[in-house]
Formats: sequence, structure tokens, C-alpha cells
Amino acid sequence: MKIDVVRKLPDLIDTLVLCHRENGELEVFEDWIAEPMLEAVKRFIDAEGICFKPNELHTFHYFNKTHHCKIILLGMEEPEALTPEKVRRNLADAVRMCVKLKSKQIYLLPGFDFELTDAMTGQVMAEAALLSIYKFDKYLSESNYETPDALHLVQDSKNTRNLNKGILEGRILAEAANLARDMVNEPANVLYPDALADLAKKAALQYGFSIEIFNLDKLRRMKMEAFLAVAKGSKNEPRLIIMRYQGNPDGKHDTIGLIGKGLTYDSGGYCIKPPQGMANMKTDMAGAAAVIGTMAAISTLKLKVNVTAIIAACENMISGEAYRVGDIVRSMSGKTIEVLNTDAEGRLTLVDAIHYAIEREHIVKVIDIATLTGAAVAALGTAISAVITNDQDWFADLEQAAHATGEMVWQLPNYPDYKKLLKSEIADIKNIGGQWGGAITAALFIQEFVQDMPWLHIDIAGPSSTDKEAGYNSYGATGVGVRLLTTLLKSME
Ligand code: BES
Ligand code: ZN
Ligand code: ZN
Repeated sequence: MKIDVVRKLPDLIDTLVLCHRENGELEVFEDWIAEPMLEAVKRFIDAEGICFKPNELHTFHYFNKTHHCKIILLGMEEPEALTPEKVRRNLADAVRMCVKLKSKQIYLLPGFDFELTDAMTGQVMAEAALLSIYKFDKYLSESNYETPDALHLVQDSKNTRNLNKGILEGRILAEAANLARDMVNEPANVLYPDALADLAKKAALQYGFSIEIFNLDKLRRMKMEAFLAVAKGSKNEPRLIIMRYQGNPDGKHDTIGLIGKGLTYDSGGYCIKPPQGMANMKTDMAGAAAVIGTMAAISTLKLKVNVTAIIAACENMISGEAYRVGDIVRSMSGKTIEVLNTDAEGRLTLVDAIHYAIEREHIVKVIDIATLTGAAVAALGTAISAVITNDQDWFADLEQAAHATGEMVWQLPNYPDYKKLLKSEIADIKNIGGQWGGAITAALFIQEFVQDMPWLHIDIAGPSSTDKEAGYNSYGATGVGVRLLTTLLKSME
């Protein structure tokens, strides 16, 4: 879908979206729309008693002898209350309506100034459009899903440089998020660990970051036994995926590590999940997808940062080879772990990936992102990610990125008190805490392996996928994390 800025409307308009605030003057459209059409808009508004109420959308069809134009009236909040995220959601609603109407050329005409910078206006427009038209329909034998060809912002500003820059940036972010969505939506029979590694390789070639993939033999030699314990139950071999991007050659010693949970399927293992809990567990690699999408975005944006991303990709299955409840495994770090629940597998894979990244890739800051706990969903619901950190200043930057992207985060406390819940009598640590506070104890487990480096832990179990289309999110994967992490990394340039 093309997105651009135009100075005037054509004579024949396919679809026109008029954005305005409540009771906004219609005269502002006079310079743009021909008299008869504007009269028709006024008549429709009077007849229906519509006044551009915030977040409301109304559609009507305008006909004259030669012309049929679909007109969408989109109500928005007053500029003081209008955040970038609200604009994204409003525009997404309008674009979805255009898809329903089978529009091909959409003209977006704002009746007031959103009071966002030009760059932000362009960015949110591109993000809203490209995220909301996404649909995972490759397995539908018959799909008549069609998307518009173009979205044109109608504006008479002379200087469109920043607007266009914003549009380009929004496109990069949205396409990277859609890349992540594609991976997360792929079912686990298709997307097993080696297939995920292949997709990462494809992304590396396309977007220009470097990649290395370790197979089972190599992982055994590196003694990543915690990771391998989880992987053992599946006949699909695990892979360690290492992606490197160097945008700041002068800062070789401040590489940021991005560790994404890459369970291509989580059955729970011997602590098997009930069917309802298992149905969506192909999405247990959403952290990995977020990390791949982020690498794609930062490479395209050429951010001046150095990032190494690691994914320990495997499948948590049941077989005669699978790990058991009660096993003690020696992690790559040397710390021994008593496995008291085979469904708390993500943390086992993550800590070996983190240890590898610190020791062999020399990262100095750690971000892990994972669909880690049902407890995070219980605490914050399905729209908000839980974050635990040992670095409050860095968290403040993450919060800013969350505000800018609309990807909501909330901090959970990092009190050392709960560490005792992870104490084992016969190993250095056990892999579950008590019955309560599971999102925190999972994070505390991981913290034991970050060697006091600045660390952000992002639990995306809630927002990684959705069963309801809403705003710019479609059914299925949301691509959460890609825009958030890219925006955070941009603030660290
Ligand atoms: N992948 C799940 C967490 C999850 C739950 C993600 C719901 C998305 C939606 C994780 O591996 C898991 O099973 N965690 C257990 C941990 C428990 C056994 C300590 C959980 O949350 O129940
Ligand atoms: Zn699990
Ligand atoms: Zn899991």
C-alpha cells in the first residue's frame, strides 16, 4: 500500500476520509471539496445528527451523474487530548472501514491540526494503515481479502520533507512488526526451530544484519544444558540463532543484548497444559519474533547502536527423551537448576542464551523479551507487558518508548525478598517459586544470570496475540515489542 502526501483532491474521488473534532466547523473543508459535495456532507450531518464525536465513524455514499464517492466522517478528540496512539487507533478504524468498502484510493483530509510534529503525523499514519490492513490469510483456500492501493494525506504545506520522513519511518516500523506477526502466526508444525532459524536468515539477508546459527552438536559442546534439557523431548532439533548489528563502530564495547524467548511450541512437557492452555502455544516464540523484527527495523533505519540478538529456539514436548520433574540440570553458567515444573521452560532457555551473550558476545546491557508467565497476564491483562528491571533510568527510557508507540508497559517490583522462593535444597536454584507472584519470581530467576548488568525484562505473555480485532491489531499475533524496542534503541543512539 502506497502512502503519500498530496496538495489537492482529484476530480473523481474514490474514498474521502474527513477527520474532525466534535462540532468542528465544516467551512474548513471549503477550499478542498467542491460545493455540491460539501453540501451533501452537511445534509448528511444534519439529517443524522452527527457531530464528529470522538472515536465515532460514519459512512455515506455521495453520488452525482458521473461520480460515486464513499465518504467517511471520522470524529477525533481535541488536540490537547489527542496522543499519537489515539490518532493511530482512529486512523486504523477508518482504514478498516475502507477495506470493508473495497476502497482503492483513500484521501485523508483533516479538518484541524492534530498538533503532532510533521514527522510524527507521517509516522502514525503509515503505522496505522499498514498495521491495520494486515491479515494472516495464507491458509485460507478462498480469501477475498483486498487492501487499498494507496492512502493520500491531503495537505497544502509547502515543505513535506518531515512528513515524508515520518511516513518512511512508520512504514519501516510497521513492516517489521508485520514480519514478526507472520512468524508468530505460523503454526508450530510449519515453524519448528530450524524453520525459525531459516526465517531469521532470510531477514538477515534482506535487511542487512549478520547471522550465525548453531546446531545441536555445537550446543552440546558449549554445555548449554538448561536450554538442551527443554529441547530434548522434541525430535525437531534446537537452534541457537545469533544476530549481530553494528551501527556504531566506535562503540564496540557497548553492545546491547536482546534475548528473545523462542519456544516454537510449548506443550508444557510432562507438566502438560490442558487443551485450552495449549491451543495458542505456537505463539511462545513471540519474544524471538520481536527480536528479529527489531533487528530488521534497526538495520533499515541504520541506527547508530550495536546490538546482538540471541534466540534459543526449541520445542517443549513429551517423549521418552523429555526432561522430567525433579531433574537437575547444569546451566552453561555452571549454576545447577532443579526442575520442579517442566512448563516453566522459557527461563531455562533464556538463562543459557543470556549467559552465552555475556560471555561470548560481550554484551554489556541485557534486554530479555518473552511470553514467560500466565501470572503476568493475571496481573496486567492482555494489553500490557510486565517489566522488571534493576535499572530505573533505563526503565524510564522504556516507558517513554511505550508512550510514543502505544505499546503499554507496567513495572512490577523487584524486591529481593522473593528470591528465597527460588531456593532449592539440592541445587543452586529451582525453576519455580511459590503459588503466587509468578511473574516476579520468573524475573528473579533470570536476574540470577545477568551478572548485575543493566537489565530490562519484558514479559509479553498478555499482549503477544489477540483473539479480537481492535485498533490496528488484527486477529492473532500483534507484533508487540518490535516498535517498542526499536524506539527504545533509537533513544539510546
Ligand atoms: N509460555 C508459558 C506462559 C504463557 C501463558 C504465555 C499464557 C502466554 C499465555 C510459560 O512457559 C508457562 O507455561 N509458564 C507457567 C509457569 C509456571 C509453571 C511457573 C505459567 O505461567 O503457568
Ligand atoms: Zn511453559
Ligand atoms: Zn512457554
